[in-house]
Formats: sequence, structure tokens, C-alpha cells
Amino acid sequence: MSDLDLPLSAPVIPNARDAVRALRASQIREVANAGFGVADVLPFWFGESDRVTPQFIRDAAAAALARGDTFYTHNLGIAPLRDALSRYVSALHGDTPAANIAVTSAGVNALMLAAQLVVGAGDRVVAVTPLWPNLVEIPKILGASVETVALGYGANGWALDLDRLLAALTPGTKLLMINSPNNPTGWVMTRAEQQAVLDHCRRHGIWIVADEVYERLYYGDTDARTAPSFLDLASRDERLICVNSFSKAWLMTGWRLGWMVAPRDLMDDLGKLVEYNTSCAPAFVQQAGIAAVEQGEPYTRRLVADLRASRDHLAAALSALPGVDVKAPHGAMYLFFSLPGAQKSLDLCKALVREAGLGLAPGSAFGPEGEGFVRWCYACDPARLDQGVERLASYLRQHAAR
Ligand SMILES: Cc1ncc(COP(=O)(O)O)c(C=O)c1O
Repeated sequence: MSDLDLPLSAPVIPNARDAVRALRASQIREVANAGFGVADVLPFWFGESDRVTPQFIRDAAAAALARGDTFYTHNLGIAPLRDALSRYVSALHGDTPAANIAVTSAGVNALMLAAQLVVGAGDRVVAVTPLWPNLVEIPKILGASVETVALGYGANGWALDLDRLLAALTPGTKLLMINSPNNPTGWVMTRAEQQAVLDHCRRHGIWIVADEVYERLYYGDTDARTAPSFLDLASRDERLICVNSFSKAWLMTGWRLGWMVAPRDLMDDLGKLVEYNTSCAPAFVQQAGIAAVEQGEPYTRRLVADLRASRDHLAAALSALPGVDVKAPHGAMYLFFSLPGAQKSLDLCKALVREAGLGLAPGSAFGPEGEGFVRWCYACDPARLDQGVERLASYLRQHAAR
């Protein structure tokens, strides 16, 4: 019997794989969708500044395009950008040869590549939460199971229970996914915590993927140019992959450019994975990346000073509202705070957008550990922050009166 003779059965519904269907959908999008039709929404829900990328970076991309820099590049990035990143990372964290650096299509692609390098079906991955969902969901796409260890919230804000994390990092665990400074909480891991985790993971052969895309957005120590990094402690050729991005320190979210620092011995295999994912980051975008790392230091320092001022401004304004518990963390660009009604944070955020024109991200978007909180991105004009606080104050007044 040929295939053509097979009886027709009921049409098969074209579903994606179970692991993909089980992925969490973005609750921030759900809130944004609830705001369709609301004319005037102040959007503090996404992790992005309201400022455009600095002119000198845009000029570098425009010049590259004008030169005709429109071709494929090496999988791991153009040599001048890898060299520039080598100088940049070495200045911040100690000797980091270009051979340990790969250019990626932004931080999220670096996270996917890092997971693809070391995680397979059935592997056990541990992640510290609340957390930007991608770090938890990416290993699941590859068939891994992810166990979460929750940060605790107390008088000093968010903190890690180190013993709980070490206990969760059992022998046989393949990978720890950790993000500091953290989105959404702003929590910053201390150097001592990093050392303890590194020692433990070395002992048990556990990989670490450290998401350090917010390392420059650090307010803990005014003399420090970055938050504590695993790169300060580890050698370049052990089981550590550090993920970074041009999105946050140089406001290049839409450009999709990032990098990772990884053991040299991984690079040939990483090149294959880049080939099958994206082949390379766009050539003219990589040229813009060179301008960012080589000329961007004064810009980044001003940006961090502005963000620190915005953080303080917003935290002071919010803490004056009744029922709001807010603490200014040492990193990233978010306040993750509790307020009346936030026990159902998704419902609250939908109501805020519909009734008050205020766009915040629900804490539950960052895992069940985030429930009870909302996230406010303060990377914007302080006048807009004030407008947002007024809207929140009036919403809380109306609901307290009901
Ligand atoms: C913790 C964290 N990691 C990685 C990223 C990825 O950023 P991008 O893909 O724009 O580099 C983000 C973006 O918001 C983030 O919050």
C-alpha cells in the first residue's frame, strides 16, 4: 500500500512540542493588552530607558552602513570588537583575552547559547528567583528541569539565603543560572556570596551562567565601576559563562548586541551553535559596539549618576504613600515594592493600567516568589516619575475610600 492509499484520519492539530507549550507567557504583555484602548498610559513596565541610544553610537552604525558593512561576519564576532571587549572587560575584571569572548545577538541570545552549550534533556538546573523569566524558561526549552531558590524579603530588602542555595546545588546539578544585579528586585550578590557559590560549584562540577547585564548599573559603592562579578574571582577557563549586553549600559536595547565570556575550550562548539542560531550579529551593529565600549565610558558614568538620582527620587516619593513598602536596592533600574492590593499583582496591574493609566509590571511575572510586589522601571525623566506617583496616589486614595 502506498502512502496515497492510507485512509484519511481526523486532521492532526499542529501543536508545538509539549516543553514549548508549557512555557510561561509574559504577564507584562497581559497587562499591556489590558491597556489597549486606554489613551494615556505611562509605561514603566518594560526594562528599558526612555532615552534614545547616544548619538556617537548611532553615528558609528550609520558610518558602517555607508561604508557597505552589510555582510556576514565570523560566528564569534569581528576581531576589532572582540579585542575592544577584551580591553573593556580586562579593565573591569582582570585579564580577559579576546579568545575567551564571543559576540552575541544581545544578552538573551547569549543566555540561550550558554544553556545550549551545557544543558540537555533531563538535566537539573537551579535558578535564584524572583527573576526575569527568560533565565528560568530557556533551560526548559532544552528539556531541563528548573528548581528555584527564592530570595527573602526583609528589613534590608531582598537577600539571599546562602545555605538554602548551596543545599539546592546538589551533586549532579548541571547548572546554576544567577542574575546579579537582579531583575526585578535590584538585589546585588556580595563578593563573599559569589566566592562561596563558586567554591561549592567547583567542588561539585556545576556550571555557572552568571547574567551580569546590569553590572554597570550599580549604586552600592560610589567608587566602584561595576557590581561584584564572578569574573573577579574565577579563572577564565573554568565552568563559568558570564553573559553581558550592550542594552543597559549604552541604551542599545533595539540593536540586539551582547557578549559572553566563556572558557576558550568552548569556543569552537559555541561557534557552531551561533552558526545554527543566528550565524552572527549584524556587521554594522558590531561596529557600533566598538564605539560604545571605546568611547562610552563618560556616557555610562553620567547615565549611572542619573539612574541613581531617579532611584532615590522615586523611592522617596513612593515611601510617602500609605501602605507602600519600598526599599532602594543597590543595582539595576527597578523598584520592586509592595502596596495594597499587590497580593494579586496581575489583577492590580491590570486595574492600574485601565483605571489610572499607570503601567507597572506584576511581581508574579517574575515567578510565584514575586507575588505581592510590583516592578517599576525608573529609567526615565523624573517629571514622568512624578506624574506616575500622582496617578498611583490617586488610585490608592480612591480604593482606600471604597
Ligand atoms: C536579567 C536580564 N538578563 C538579560 C536581559 C537581556 O537583555 P538583552 O537581550 O536586551 O541584551 C535582560 C533584559 O531586560 C535582563 O533583564
